[in-house]
Amino acid sequence: MPCIKEVLHQSSLMLSKSVKNPKKEAMILLREWIRKDDVFLITHDDFEVSDVDGFLKWVKQRVEHTPLEYITQKVSFYSKEFIIKEGVLVPRPETEILVDKTAELIKGFGAKNVAEIGTGSGVISIMLSLLLPQIKICATDISPKAIETAKLNAQKFGVENRIKFYLTSYLDGIEPPQILVSNPPYISKKENLEKHVLNEPHSALFGGEQGDEMLKDIILLAKKLNVLALACEMGYDQKESIKSFFEDNKIANYSFYQDLSGLDRGFMMKG
Ligand SMILES: C[S@@+](CC[C@H](N)C(=O)[O-])C[C@H]1O[C@@H](n2cnc3c(N)ncnc32)[C@H](O)[C@@H]1O
Repeated sequence: MPCIKEVLHQSSLMLSKSVKNPKKEAMILLREWIRKDDVFLITHDDFEVSDVDGFLKWVKQRVEHTPLEYITQKVSFYSKEFIIKEGVLVPRPETEILVDKTAELIKGFGAKNVAEIGTGSGVISIMLSLLLPQIKICATDISPKAIETAKLNAQKFGVENRIKFYLTSYLDGIEPPQILVSNPPYISKKENLEKHVLNEPHSALFGGEQGDEMLKDIILLAKKLNVLALACEMGYDQKESIKSFFEDNKIANYSFYQDLSGLDRGFMMKG
């Protein structure tokens, strides 16, 4: 049987055709395949890898631009390991800021009822529930696969009794919340995305011709429902359009936030 050193060499070569960091990705995949950690990989060059053909099928999927997280079915968010499934958006690190901003709003208002539109794998609602055990959350999504994955994650973190998941659009059929949070699809249909991103569900990525259509619907919904506060993630180039929308709709109490790269990344609105 081939050993770790040989398998890493062969898989790095295969990956070098399509990924930026082939050695690192080969290690991540092999680590998951043999269920060991990086230290084991580095210190056990001669360890024999079983079912190498099966492992090389994983590598081939990655060469064909399947997101790494869909292959390992794991994603790190807020320093925790969540389950992720093909067909559900892979959570991005910048969304951790939205969790923090929303948690601040909830604490500031002493709110108990929260809703999330477009929960995906459930990471936002689950993290809020872990940070603030006193709150109840209703989380919606139009994707059955997303709701299924979010429920698995809620069980994994023991918060399934504090979050209700609904297969519905926006907040249809849900009681108005005190605080509303969303990281909706906000990319413009005109945007050119990398191949591996295009392997994620388009209904989770694209918000319309401009991209910010769903964000604007959510702002109007939050206004109509008289929520105490709304927090949303948005595209780095959408600040001006959202700002004009607030002004056109006579909404005065809003602020924007940036991500760690200094890019405009989201907004909060208070009722
Ligand atoms: C950008 S993803 C965010 C997923 C997750 N909250 C996160 O931050 O990783 C947007 C999610 O919104 C869902 N979605 C799209 N249109 C929706 C709608 N009308 N109502 C509810 N959810 C919707 C998509 O299925 C997708 O899961």
